[in-house]
Amino acid sequence: MLDETAKFLANQYPILLTAEQIQAKVREMAKQISTDYAGKCPVFIGVLNGSFMFFADLLRHIKIDCEVDFIKISSYGEAMRTSGLVKVRKDLDCHIEGRHVIVVEDIIDSGLSVTFLKKKMSEMKPESLKFVSLLVKEGSAQVEYSCDYAGFRIPNRFVVGYGLDYAQKLRNLPAIYVMD
Ligand code: IMP
Ligand code: MG
Repeated sequence: MLDETAKFLANQYPILLTAEQIQAKVREMAKQISTDYAGKCPVFIGVLNGSFMFFADLLRHIKIDCEVDFIKISSYGEAMRTSGLVKVRKDLDCHIEGRHVIVVEDIIDSGLSVTFLKKKMSEMKPESLKFVSLLVKEGSAQVEYSCDYAGFRIPNRFVVGYGLDYAQKLRNLPAIYVMD
C-alpha cells in the first residue's frame, strides 16, 4: 500500500506548482530582495514550521550580508482551517530593535498570523519591517494585511508540500499539491 507521500509523488493528487516553478520564483524573489537591501544587513526571520524549506532555498540565493532567526507560531492545530487564535510556541532569540527585519512566511491565508507578527514585531522597534510569503491565497483574508514580496497568488484551496503540512505530514514534498 502506498503511504501518503508516495500517493502525492505518484500524482494521485493535482499538482499546483512544480518544483521547477517554485525554484524559479524563489530565485526571482531572492534577487529582488538582494537588490532592495543592497548595502544593508537584514535579519531574516523564518516562521516555523511551514517556511523552513522556502526559507532555506531563499537564503541560498541572497547575495548580501544577513542574519537569520526563527519564530514558531501556531493557529491551525491539526485542522484544515485556522482556529483564529495565534500562539507563540518559540519566540525570537535576536534583538530586532533598529534592525531591518524581513519575516518569511510559507503562505498567507486568513492574514491573522502576519497581522499578529506585524503587531508583535513593530513593538520591538525595528528600523524597517517587511513580509515575504511564497504563497498568498486569494479571497480568504479575514483581516486587511500587507505582504511586501508575494510569490504566487493561489486559489482558496488547501495545499500541501514544500514545507506545508496536513496534520504535520507531507512537508517533505518538493512540489505543492491541492489536497481538499
Ligand atoms: P493565516 O494565519 O490564516 O494567514 O495562516 C497562516 C498559516 O496557516 C500559514 O503560515 C500555514 O502554516 C497555515 N496554512 C494556511 N493555509 C494552509 C494550507 O493551505 N495548507 C497548509 N497550511 C496552511
Ligand atoms: Mg506558517
